[in-house]
Amino acid sequence: MFSAPSDGLNGKFRVPGDKSISHRSVMLGSLAEGVTEVSGFLEAEDALATLKTFQDMGVEIDRLGDGRLRIHGVGLHGLKPAKNELYVGNSGTSMRLLSGILAGQNFDSVLTGDSSLTKRPMRRVLDPLSLMGAKVESTAAGTSPLKIHGGEPLQGIEYEMPMGSAQVKSCLLLAGLYAQGTTTVVEPAVTRDHTERMLRGFGYDVKSEGNVVSLDGGGTLKGMSIDVPADISSAAFFLVAASITPNSDITLEHVGINTTRTGVIDILLKMGADIQLLNERLVGGERVADLRVKSSRLKGIHVPDNLVALAIDEFPVIFVAAAYADGKTVVTGAEELRVKESDRIQTMADGLQALGVDAQATPDGMIINGGVVNGGQIESFDDHRIAMAFAVAGLQSKGQIQINNCENVATSFPNFVDLAVMCGFNLATK
Ligand code: S3P
Repeated sequence: MFSAPSDGLNGKFRVPGDKSISHRSVMLGSLAEGVTEVSGFLEAEDALATLKTFQDMGVEIDRLGDGRLRIHGVGLHGLKPAKNELYVGNSGTSMRLLSGILAGQNFDSVLTGDSSLTKRPMRRVLDPLSLMGAKVESTAAGTSPLKIHGGEPLQGIEYEMPMGSAQVKSCLLLAGLYAQGTTTVVEPAVTRDHTERMLRGFGYDVKSEGNVVSLDGGGTLKGMSIDVPADISSAAFFLVAASITPNSDITLEHVGINTTRTGVIDILLKMGADIQLLNERLVGGERVADLRVKSSRLKGIHVPDNLVALAIDEFPVIFVAAAYADGKTVVTGAEELRVKESDRIQTMADGLQALGVDAQATPDGMIINGGVVNGGQIESFDDHRIAMAFAVAGLQSKGQIQINNCENVATSFPNFVDLAVMCGFNLATK
């Protein structure tokens, strides 16, 4: 993909559905009793990988087109063993959340993924699952393929998570549906709470107090309707794009603004961005708004540590905002970025340096002195958010940016290039 400077971005449009909510809609819809209707589902590789695994386990899911699904739930104990390994591609959310569900089944399963996912750490879910009584085999390095033995009785535990991770929390809560007694998860920092919210929507009692979440096993889920809002993580590319490009005015419609996800808005506002939340409303238990963003002069800031978990997927493009900001931006407490689809601290620091930006990777973040961004050639390391972040970087660079290996944009945002070009990006795929 090639990204060249633009004179201004304009338009009003909706980015695709929230990835986290899409995964959970298929998981809980499949495990519910009765039919679940989903609209706004993210028809991209990651969420479709989750959908396929449930079809492989005997769940009938009708794809009605245009982000609409009808899921014929089989109940918590109605899944059937898949004939083959369950393949989840690039999707860490699928693998970690499914591990919790599969640990509660009475059959064995094998979970596997692509070359990036098979390098990512899984002990963070395997260790607490084994404390609950699950039997899971991984490689010696604690990576997938994961062989999950069914038929092991699970026991509720109280678990203090060593890292802020919604995937670990969700895995344990999903295993907790099958456990005897209470499963309690204590988070070091609040992370996205879509699992808790959606479980409640399906009629399951989940208690949350600050950073402690718990539920009792043995209940049931009742099918419901889910309207998936647009993904703030995808909207983030346009928030930064319009901020750094003079003569821009974009409105992003129906974006999920759950407070566990809005760190990117808070960070950009602190940097001086002009973002308005319009038409705020509650849709199926999730807050939604239209986000209007106009060009502005950004300034460097020290990103408060308490916003890091609330913006964890948006750092690649936040680093691009920092590269265009006046002064220094410092990010700390973000070591989790090193274990995403790529090591996002290193890949972003290397890419920004290749464009002449003063960007220094630190063990848990980055220090960026904003200024001129040159053209150049960038590796995406097969990471969708790295590719899209550098497409945004090209909007005001001194020369064209060539981004290699962009196919993975399809994992979360298949129509990124179309929407970007429509609003005024100067992007070419060849
Ligand atoms: C996700 C949680 C986050 C995030 C990922 C989606 C989820 O991961 O990075 O893209 O849907 O629960 P961690 O929980 O590992 O931080």
